[in-house]
Amino acid sequence: MAYRTHCLICTGTGCVSGGSCNLRKILEAEIAKRNLDKEIQVITTGCQGFCAEGPIMIVQPDGVFYCRVGEREVPQIVEEHLLKGRPVKKLLYTPPTDKAPIPALKDIPFFAKQKLVVLRNRGLIDPDRIRAVSSPQTNAPAPIRSSISKSNPLSKMFLPSSPYW
Ligand code: FES
Repeated sequence: MAYRTHCLICTGTGCVSGGSCNLRKILEAEIAKRNLDKEIQVITTGCQGFCAEGPIMIVQPDGVFYCRVGEREVPQIVEEHLLKGRPVKKLLYTPPTDKAPIPALKDIPFFAKQKLVVLRNRGLIDPDRIRAVSSPQTNAPAPIRSSISKSNPLSKMFLPSSPYW
């Protein structure tokens, strides 16, 4: 099923201690309540690396980065952002030396200076949903893709599904 929007909830240790597991449940319930569950998928991720700003939520494909998200803000995020396409300004990251919030994760200096290698698919792969890979059309890493064939046991290899590949 193709979803139009993915809400990535960080469930790294820092964000979990800030209540992100409950946040996920509340967000899923709010999405279902508005009959958006066929359009919007909630995905948990590992640590996004910015624990001090947790709980973290990223809305894709917009790339909007929300920080310090509380349970009370969930209905507003769903109503304003997920339904109307207007990011909730008060939950966007604002650098300490600035007054203007930065909506997109890629524009936040903390992230903009990073080049992810091992974690480059962080937030793009849903570890809760695994599917078989049987065709080179998938965006599996090259060594895996080139090893997949009918006679090769690697053709039975399972990789996580991702909404972006
Ligand atoms: S635990 Fe969420 S950003 Fe680190």
